[in-house]
Amino acid sequence: MSDAPILITGGAGFIGSHLADALLARGHAVRVLDDLSTGRPGNLPLDDPRLELIEGDVADPAHLARAVAGCRAVAHLAAVASVQASVDDPVGTHRSNFLGTLNLCEAMRVHGVRRVLFASSAAVYGQNGEGLAVDEDTPKAPLTPYAADKLASEHYLDFYRRQHGLEPAIFRFFNIFGPRQDPSSPYSGVISIFAERALAGTPIDIFGDGEQTRDFVYIGDLVGVLCQALLRDHIEPGPVNVGLDRSISLNQLLDAVREVLGSLPPVRHRPARAGDIRHSRAANRRLLQRYDFPEPTPLAVGLAHLLER
Ligand code: NAD
Ligand code: UD1
Repeated sequence: MSDAPILITGGAGFIGSHLADALLARGHAVRVLDDLSTGRPGNLPLDDPRLELIEGDVADPAHLARAVAGCRAVAHLAAVASVQASVDDPVGTHRSNFLGTLNLCEAMRVHGVRRVLFASSAAVYGQNGEGLAVDEDTPKAPLTPYAADKLASEHYLDFYRRQHGLEPAIFRFFNIFGPRQDPSSPYSGVISIFAERALAGTPIDIFGDGEQTRDFVYIGDLVGVLCQALLRDHIEPGPVNVGLDRSISLNQLLDAVREVLGSLPPVRHRPARAGDIRHSRAANRRLLQRYDFPEPTPLAVGLAHLLER
């Protein structure tokens, strides 16, 4: 096994820190580049000598050059993960969400690192029909700066694949949830917010009528796939959806939270968010063909992990 570290940009965040744990558990050294804008050092096992944390910005080429040098592979997760934040601040989020990817491609070309996993998003598809699962060939219709930056990043990664031999493994994550997803901002993932408010007994806000649907994936089911993509010999080109081909509405999600806790705080309806996708559900045949994907963790079990205190 190579001693060269695997770089995780955004490794102090929700998904990145779980990936760091999984790689360390498999015996690999890990380097994290993170600006700690939403990530926290406390998410990482900092006392493990095989882990290095570099505080830096993916939009800064000098920070990336230092982080990429000597790496074996890169998981590129650093981004402003909130779709709504990109609607409110398109320029600021573009720096991280697009320029960061382009800088990374350049740093990898210069340093001769080839394998890169990229956290793209279901957001690239735009609106889906109710109950319809989208496969990877569905036409893309990004509705927000976040989605446009993810789709542009995919295209640049593909250019560097064709022109410079990069080996991108592009994943379009649907809605990932689990422990360490930060609930502290209105920009956070909906399950983390609902879980925190349900436990605290503070009112829950639903943007719109609550009939919008999402395909939720528990973090524990995702990390093994990411490890395979970083470590296997060959990557087939083309993006891969990560979803379960099951979707539920926010109203059903709240029912599931009530089932676990026995009660719910008051629910308030707010205006729907601009650019919000109504329905989202993944066709996942390519995921199941290309990767060993576990029997999915049932939503109630994933929720129970979050709601047990
Ligand atoms: P997160 O906010 O917990 O993690 C993002 C990390 O990136 C944070 O640690 C943050 O500090 C860091 N970061 C942000 N801008 C940076 C910059 N300019 N330089 C360096 N570090 C920076 O969110 P997450 O849910 O773990 O998301 C990880 C990735 O997965 C993101 O790219 C996100 O767009 C993508 N994604 C997430 C989901 C989901 O449901 N959580 C779904 C689709 C795609
Ligand atoms: C999420 C991810 C995004 C990812 C996308 C892929 C986060 C913060 N966002 O975006 O990175 O690319 O999935 O599908 O991880 N809502 C409420 N009340 C709240 C919070 C949210 O009603 O307090 C609603 C939103 O309006 C939306 C739904 O819940 O309709 C989901 O919102 P959110 O968790 O922010 O996720 P997405 O926008 O789907």
